[in-house]
Amino acid sequence: MQTVTVSASIQYDVIIGSGARKLLAEKIKARFGTPRVCVVSDDRVAALHLAALKDDLRQAEVDCVSYVFPHGEQSKTPETLFDLLAFLAQARLSRKDVLVALGGGVTGDLGGLASALYMRGMHLVQMPTSLLAMVDSSVGGKTAVDLPEGKNLAGVFRQPDLVLCDTDYLATLSEEDFRDGMAEVIKYGVIGDEALFDRVKNGVPRAQMTDVITRCVEMKRDVVNEDEFDTGRRALLNFGHTLGHAIEAGSAFSLSHGKAVAVGMVRIAALAEQTGFCFVPCREEIAAALLQNGLPTDCAFSNAALYEAVTADKKCAGGSITLVLPRRIGVCETKTMPVEELKELLQ
Ligand SMILES: NC(=O)c1ccc[n+]([C@@H]2O[C@H](COP(=O)([O-])OP(=O)(O)OC[C@H]3O[C@@H](n4cnc5c(N)ncnc54)[C@H](O)[C@@H]3O)[C@@H](O)[C@H]2O)c1
Repeated sequence: MQTVTVSASIQYDVIIGSGARKLLAEKIKARFGTPRVCVVSDDRVAALHLAALKDDLRQAEVDCVSYVFPHGEQSKTPETLFDLLAFLAQARLSRKDVLVALGGGVTGDLGGLASALYMRGMHLVQMPTSLLAMVDSSVGGKTAVDLPEGKNLAGVFRQPDLVLCDTDYLATLSEEDFRDGMAEVIKYGVIGDEALFDRVKNGVPRAQMTDVITRCVEMKRDVVNEDEFDTGRRALLNFGHTLGHAIEAGSAFSLSHGKAVAVGMVRIAALAEQTGFCFVPCREEIAAALLQNGLPTDCAFSNAALYEAVTADKKCAGGSITLVLPRRIGVCETKTMPVEELKELLQ
């Protein structure tokens, strides 16, 4: 088991490894006394893992209720959020109680936001079960739901009190969802760790992911410690995401987050090469690593269609846009430009 400590506005541990879930009751009692717990989960994860977690809690005499919603991005809405808040109220939870978000990034974002809003804030434990949530969304405190106008438009920064990342959960993750997570892992390699990129570029067996996840969480910790509220360096984590979000939304979410980010990384690396921003060309290397990990490197959207979608995204503020561009594998930098310049480049 490995522990990474995040020191943002609050300090918390991310405990990573096989069997980490078994620590939940003990950690909750040590930190919060004898609170009640609400486990939030989607129906897929709940069917596989909720009963065992509730058993663990009950055996430790922790009173526990659970809220289950239909899986998928379609549930990351204000409607589900308010339904969950109503559930917390009907179950008479207080702000001394703990919301446990057991699931992927959708559950973590939705549960995290609910924990921040309910009675102005209750305790939060993130228990990521998808690879994407383990390496990215469970750490760093970004929570949100989507609006019809765009993704993640309604949210707050809300750091968790604890993250328990049990790598055993990866065993039940579908191949598709595992690949989506690998897109984020490859992203970490490109933005800041060439050795990590080399380690994962030909794929990694999911039973050997603990060290890879730990390295990604360390990188995320470093960025969040320095720029919790995303006013500077944290933007680096958006490598591939500015175009990726546009691709994801443009496909009406039929293309998953990871696949959209994969295509976004290749397109933005091409742009970096085309403008001479790259010290060493890296588009082909990134594309090869994505293919080796079963991810797409292109999609049906033209660059013109992407421009329209990107400028509708919230990251495009005040007529300028910040892009994350690679200099080479392991080094990325942000560049802010007028949206008109992006239009010309994409054309
Ligand atoms: N908050 C952040 O910093 C941040 C960062 C990146 C992404 N996100 C968000 O995360 C979301 C994507 O995350 P995701 O890909 O985890 O989506 P997800 O939560 O929808 O999970 C993907 C699928 O995997 C299933 N699943 C999860 N764990 C499983 C397991 N152990 N076994 C079997 N099935 C399992 C889920 O039921 C779901 O069907 C997006 O909404 C994105 O905006 C947030």
